[in-house]
Amino acid sequence: MILVAGSANLDFVVRAHHIPAPGETVLGRDFQTFPGGKGANQAVACARAGGVPTAMLLALGSDAFAQPLVDSLTDAGVQLHTVQAAQPTGVAFICVSEEGENAITVAPGANHALQAQHLPSLQGVTHLLMQLETPVATVQAYAQAARAQGVQVVLNAAPAQALPAALLALVDILIVNEGELAALTSAPAVTAGAAATSSPSPLAEQLAQLPVPCVVVTLGSAGCLASVNGQLLRQAAFKVKVVDTTAAGDTFCGALVAALSQRADMPLALQRASAAAALACTQLGAQSSIPSASAVAQLMQQSV
Ligand code: RIB
Repeated sequence: MILVAGSANLDFVVRAHHIPAPGETVLGRDFQTFPGGKGANQAVACARAGGVPTAMLLALGSDAFAQPLVDSLTDAGVQLHTVQAAQPTGVAFICVSEEGENAITVAPGANHALQAQHLPSLQGVTHLLMQLETPVATVQAYAQAARAQGVQVVLNAAPAQALPAALLALVDILIVNEGELAALTSAPAVTAGAAATSSPSPLAEQLAQLPVPCVVVTLGSAGCLASVNGQLLRQAAFKVKVVDTTAAGDTFCGALVAALSQRADMPLALQRASAAAALACTQLGAQSSIPSASAVAQLMQQSV
């Protein structure tokens, strides 16, 4: 079983010609709400990938925003461990541009109520998948418990922030984008283009700085790069028509962990995760855009 411990947000999404600059007002188009939150998105991505059962530990408020989040997770087949919080359910305000890029502001609310004592039994859990929309102290306590019980700790270090070395020492697989990698290594963000042309790659040098045996950095349309015990693996991105990149990273994380928990080797897991993330860019919204295992298999077959 995979256990995802993390955030659930109701996403308030407006599409607009472009994302407003500081101080700018833009007139957007239609407005919609979608179930989101990095943790919940990743749990749905694990569940839709199929193969192994997925459970999620989350915290919700006692308000109308909680129910759509519960419904989306349960419809996907995720087993819930829900903490009832005094704070309101987490929300995210998202502007999506014509190019499918987004800008997201999160009000974490109930997500910050997750505490060390809420971790359920890890019996039967092979992988614990976490993100950084819940308190770092809680993430570290869960990682500590998982490490002590031989559970693989997978951390998607998003949103970007520096982390204590003691937490990184408990992580088996770290998944970051370029900005998140820069925040962890205190280095300027390296662009995917520079990564492809420079030798030795500045990205590879940054990966080598991290005290984690397996680090995966996602590079958007340039694919991804993984360092597994010092060995570098590259996976190209699958080409799709981009509508909205929201939750593409979350879909990558969930699909990667689902593949690894089914004992896929890392190159195959990276391929499945990249195909799933590409498909997530073709639909508007977070959990609404996460593909099924059969859609992922079809895209992989078409691209052979
Ligand atoms: O990664 C996308 C997610 O970030 C959104 O669903 C939003 O809720 C924020 O958590």
